[in-house]
Amino acid sequence: MPIFSKTVKLIQLCIMKKIAFQRRLLKWHKEQNLRQMPWKGEKDPYKVWLSEIILQQTRVEQGMAYYQNFTQAFPNIQSLANAHEDTVYKLWEGLGYYSRCKNMLKTARLITLENKGKFPDTYDGLVKLPGIGPYTAAAIASFCFSLPYPVMDGNVFRVLARVFKINLSSGTSEGKKYFSQLAGDLLDHQKPGLYNQALMDFGATVCKHALPLCVGCIFQNSCGAYLENKVSDYPVKSKKIKLKERWFTWFIFCHRGKIYIQKRTSKDIWENLFEFYLLETNQSKDWSEKAVMKWLASEFESMELSAIRIYPAQTQKLTHQLIHARFIEIMIQSPIKPQKQFKGNWVSRKQLDHTGFPAMIRNFLEKSIMLS
Ligand code: ADE
Repeated sequence: MPIFSKTVKLIQLCIMKKIAFQRRLLKWHKEQNLRQMPWKGEKDPYKVWLSEIILQQTRVEQGMAYYQNFTQAFPNIQSLANAHEDTVYKLWEGLGYYSRCKNMLKTARLITLENKGKFPDTYDGLVKLPGIGPYTAAAIASFCFSLPYPVMDGNVFRVLARVFKINLSSGTSEGKKYFSQLAGDLLDHQKPGLYNQALMDFGATVCKHALPLCVGCIFQNSCGAYLENKVSDYPVKSKKIKLKERWFTWFIFCHRGKIYIQKRTSKDIWENLFEFYLLETNQSKDWSEKAVMKWLASEFESMELSAIRIYPAQTQKLTHQLIHARFIEIMIQSPIKPQKQFKGNWVSRKQLDHTGFPAMIRNFLEKSIMLS
């Protein structure tokens, strides 16, 4: 066969595969997709935006309760924009990736102030807003305004990588380019919202990361990875991120039923959340009562103590950091002199329940029996 007709045939084959992919996926969505989520079919850009921000780094099962709480507390963008920052962070507590919360508030305030609470109805208008990247802009644009933008989340990458046997990692610039091109080609331009939802749901419920349901899958006879018995090799993984280790010691100062807390204000993890008095060291520190007394003497003017309790160390893995933390409770007997180190607030045990803390501190509070 001449080279020209060979190329035409190949292109025809590719087009057919893409059309078949769209058709099968939408048929599956209509007839077999049982996934229920409160934001599904939602057209209000405020609610879709909220759900997508929550789901950026969070599993649907975990995100659902947060979505319900947020839509209940703030039924529209104006109510969110007018809320106190601490109230919003408290509602976000436990979800992690707190920059999402910061940007969400920024965007709510921006849209309320500058656009009378009306969301932009174009991809370019959306993608300019704080916290809205190509993925979220595509989701809002397609779900709410039927605009032809493909969403590209982990589920989508996985399905495409397996069905089309793509040997590139979506973490590389070459991979990103390739996946975007393919996702754009595959998109159903008549029903972009429906198609995007179908693809995400298919990835989450059938073409799963672990134990994918290949038996009976609608792509069984065309999935490149399945036909070569290599499903677990796809998607190709990008290089492992090297974790930065950090060592935190949180001193819980208690005095006459009040506990010292401070807001994390620097551009760091858990910005705008609260914490106890923090000492960060660049290596692990073995705390004994004697070491605590020595550190206190070097850090503060003299204090009369009635008790010290040192809790076991614990760790938490974040995307780029490994946090080792230890809590040390210190009961102060003498009146507290105004020391320059205590810039935060002294609050009651009850107030701690209404304060937004990182998950490590919240878990500690739930498990510990603090002296006060
Ligand atoms: N993950 C992020 N957004 C989603 C959506 N709209 N449906 C299902 N999973 C999602």
